[in-house]
Amino acid sequence: MTENDSHGGAENGGGKAARIQECDNEFVVPTYSRFDLSFERGEGAYLWDTTGKRYLDFGGGIAVNILGQCHPELTAALTEQAGRLTHTSNLYYHERQGKLAETLTKLIGPGKCFFCNSGAEANEGLFKLARRFGDEEGRFEILTMSRSFHGRTLACMAATGQEKVKKGFGPAVSGFRQVPFNDIDALRQALSPATVAIMIEGVQGEGGVYPADPAYLLELRRFCDENRLLLLMDEVQAGHFRTGQFMSYQRILEETPGGKDFLPDGIAMAKSLGGGFPIGAFWVRQPYADLLGPGTHASTFGGGPLACSVALKILEVIRRDRLDRNARELGCWLQEQLSELIRRYPQRLKMVRGLGLMVGIELTEDWPTERSPAARMVHQLHQEGLLAIPAGPQVVRFLPALNLSKATAEAGLELVDTAMKQLSQ
Ligand SMILES: Cc1ncc(COP(=O)(O)O)c(C=O)c1O
Repeated sequence: MTENDSHGGAENGGGKAARIQECDNEFVVPTYSRFDLSFERGEGAYLWDTTGKRYLDFGGGIAVNILGQCHPELTAALTEQAGRLTHTSNLYYHERQGKLAETLTKLIGPGKCFFCNSGAEANEGLFKLARRFGDEEGRFEILTMSRSFHGRTLACMAATGQEKVKKGFGPAVSGFRQVPFNDIDALRQALSPATVAIMIEGVQGEGGVYPADPAYLLELRRFCDENRLLLLMDEVQAGHFRTGQFMSYQRILEETPGGKDFLPDGIAMAKSLGGGFPIGAFWVRQPYADLLGPGTHASTFGGGPLACSVALKILEVIRRDRLDRNARELGCWLQEQLSELIRRYPQRLKMVRGLGLMVGIELTEDWPTERSPAARMVHQLHQEGLLAIPAGPQVVRFLPALNLSKATAEAGLELVDTAMKQLSQ
């Protein structure tokens, strides 16, 4: 099937979608409220559903498919590694893990890395690091932000600043408290003798695409130094060049005096680090890099040859093709174009914000829908053939691949415009 095929064999394909969904409904634990879409194939910026309908992917599998679908160099890296050495366990050395840790460390700063399989696990590792750091003094409490999202494990739920994530799973893991985002006074007031660390997303993703203020980040660093707290950053969604710099805090602070010297004490990574192959990691700054010694933490799959080979290839391609620059320039252009759409559809669209190719569009309250405005808009975008991701009830997110071309981005914007015309009638 070519890129131009659309709506091919709807009846047959529609029946296939029904079979896929029936099987899923019967045998998969229903934790996801899925959209009525079943995908069969992907190539670059596009996916095809079972009816042959083509979708332009502005959601990137929630900030994962950083080089799009089935990138030939990633496929080659994965299959080549699969033909040589697949899994060894962490009882032994293999070359790729150290190489990836070296590459990440050179992109961040002096320190070391631990590898796992997901964002939640990366954050869990940082929580353990913080508890180990404070153990002798009886300090264990980690302050996190309102509206934040850190994952679905018990500790990550306790760290997350959204009630809907926590509800029904009490008692919560103790030792986590939330404070308002971008508010240094609130942090000062919240500090207790038990506090050992602060965790923050550089750009809150699930919470609605809210970047941290540069001045706040600098003050946060000072505050952590003054109070001997670890400053931990969750870059799971905003990291890996999505904002135009390797880490979102580097982008946020690039023009701020003193910003170049800013370094957190720990950073969680996952999602687009593997471009679709599961990988998670945390980096820890040098003075604390050996706090977690032998026997204190582990992962069976973490840092395996397959995951590390894919991650190394992604970082190589992004840097070789200057996709960081593309993320920055295209992201800026996208925000300008979306601002233009806001002028055209002021009853429905309110504001745009974000950094690089992490862009959120906030919707007005004024939507005639029983669902949330974000779900309604995403549904309409699907009708037009565009994938986007809701971030709460009022925000729609665009998290496309960093190798998206300008022409394809323009095609995507036209689909947004068409959807908005429909939604404004
Ligand atoms: C900022 C952030 N942290 C952590 C996570 C959890 O990652 P995972 O689903 O890989 O456990 C997410 C997932 O959306 C995220 O956006």
